[in-house]
Amino acid sequence: MTTEPNNKTIERQVDRRRTFAIISHPDAGKTTLTEKLLLYGDAIHLAGSVKSRRAARHAVSDWMEMEKQRGISITSSVLQFPYRDYAVNLLDTPGHADFSEDTYRTLAAADSAIMLMDVAKGVEAQTKKLFKVCAMRKIPIFTFINKMDRYGRKPLELMEEVEETLGIAACPLNWPIGMGKDFQGVYDRQSEQVILFDSEGTHGETKVEERRLELDDPELEKILSPRQFDTLQEEIELLDIAGDPFDLQRVHAGELTPMFFGSAITNFGVRPFLDAFVEMAPSPRQAREFNVEPTRGDFSGFVFKIQANMNPDHRDRLAFVRITSGVFEKDMQAKLLRTDRQIKLAYPQQMMASDREMAQQLYAGDIVGLYDPGRFRIGDTLYTGNPVDEQEIPRFSPEHFAVVQIEDPLRRKQLIKGLDQLSEEGTIQVFRQPGKGSLDVVVGAVGILQFEVLKHRLKTEYNVEVSLRHLDFSHARWLQGEFDEDALNRQQFLKVLHDRDDLPLLLLRNDWALNYTTQNYPDIELLPNPPGTPGLEELHDVTHGF
Ligand code: G4P
Repeated sequence: MTTEPNNKTIERQVDRRRTFAIISHPDAGKTTLTEKLLLYGDAIHLAGSVKSRRAARHAVSDWMEMEKQRGISITSSVLQFPYRDYAVNLLDTPGHADFSEDTYRTLAAADSAIMLMDVAKGVEAQTKKLFKVCAMRKIPIFTFINKMDRYGRKPLELMEEVEETLGIAACPLNWPIGMGKDFQGVYDRQSEQVILFDSEGTHGETKVEERRLELDDPELEKILSPRQFDTLQEEIELLDIAGDPFDLQRVHAGELTPMFFGSAITNFGVRPFLDAFVEMAPSPRQAREFNVEPTRGDFSGFVFKIQANMNPDHRDRLAFVRITSGVFEKDMQAKLLRTDRQIKLAYPQQMMASDREMAQQLYAGDIVGLYDPGRFRIGDTLYTGNPVDEQEIPRFSPEHFAVVQIEDPLRRKQLIKGLDQLSEEGTIQVFRQPGKGSLDVVVGAVGILQFEVLKHRLKTEYNVEVSLRHLDFSHARWLQGEFDEDALNRQQFLKVLHDRDDLPLLLLRNDWALNYTTQNYPDIELLPNPPGTPGLEELHDVTHGF
């Protein structure tokens, strides 16, 4: 039996939550680091390289693959594990290279991010894009320079690159001692101690031995080569004079990134990083605000992701809810803000990395997967007690469009069902051409890869084969004001469509068409997203790279 949590309990529980995502360029080591965080969180006891990941990486979640390979009980969207006194929620961001809305939405549910980089590569294309999304939302970012067991670029050079390319001040909290096969450990600038690692007898499968020594311990001079010792002394002095001082407020404001060095594969530096991270990362109370106060007694949360058919044996669909206040309990009743309907939050899926049991009570910062028979949409807000404001999840405007052509007209019903469900999940947006009947469907996506996902999923999950005829348009704008649809349609570089709520929108061939229409149709307002949805115009350069 569970007792009713009081306000003090809620505060204490919220304060121990750490909800974050890892952002990185493919191959920087996100899967490996995730696995090692689980190892240190005692969610798994033996880590091992996950084989044949490479082939699967671009299509499915790395974590699902990991689950298959390792037989550990994780779900693909969120991992929850206790670490020291903290309750850690690690959100998965899709591993494929094509930047998608999905990644953005996941970051909307995170309170902080770990930016992972390969020491040999530094800031890469995907790092920049994801960083920009975090920076726009002022999400605190913790930098981990990985693969120190390999020779790479100089740590000072990387620090400069982060500051210059990304425009954020960096403050190394530890500093590497050596690199490649000479990587011995890190100097912890806060305790002013050297942490040496020893992987004797393990290949990163189990936690490494750590030894802490004061900088002036004579033992240290015996362990490090004279050159390593001198370099360390020099670099520490240089950082003390030149670097930005540590300032937690600036970290929480997203202005300063604490920097760490390590090697996920050998576990060197993983524990010091995790320790510092849980202590410094904001709790939901310290994080940027959602629509409600996290310690409000009444429950609230919002759907940031919908994932269908996670288990091919059951046609299940899960709506992932970030809890924003109060306490979530299994089978509780809550109101769906969009429809004003009371619903039972039944069959919640546990997200514990190590335990199949569903946690009895969840608090702000936690994520719960709710069984979804098709009633939720991305951005939906749930609450009990007094109504809360809607949690806004901004959307990207689609930039790729295609007409869906069905191979077997008898499968039409399944096609419509599949398209409906996939658009609710946010994989694609579905539009209809007015007057053309429901068969002539146009789909829009932010990244071209989403079309491949669409075709694949229609085939495997709905048994519908389709081909997609790409349309030569690159912008979508929702229409407001006075306009004549037929007149607009007569322009070759424009096409009027209707969205799932029957709101009219315009496809425009290119930037020129957008300028032309803006100038020549002054009575029309062109919106990058449906009216009332917060738009993300400024993210245009994120989807288009730098
Ligand atoms: P990702 O999820 O960010 O795409 O990266 P992932 O962890 O899959 O790592 C990409 C490759 O980098 C893997 O090698 C992995 O073993 C390696 N790696 C990760 N962390 C480290 C590290 O600290 N040091 C070194 N030296 N390598 C690291 P792979 O050959 O692609 O795959 P695998 O056969 O090892 O699984």
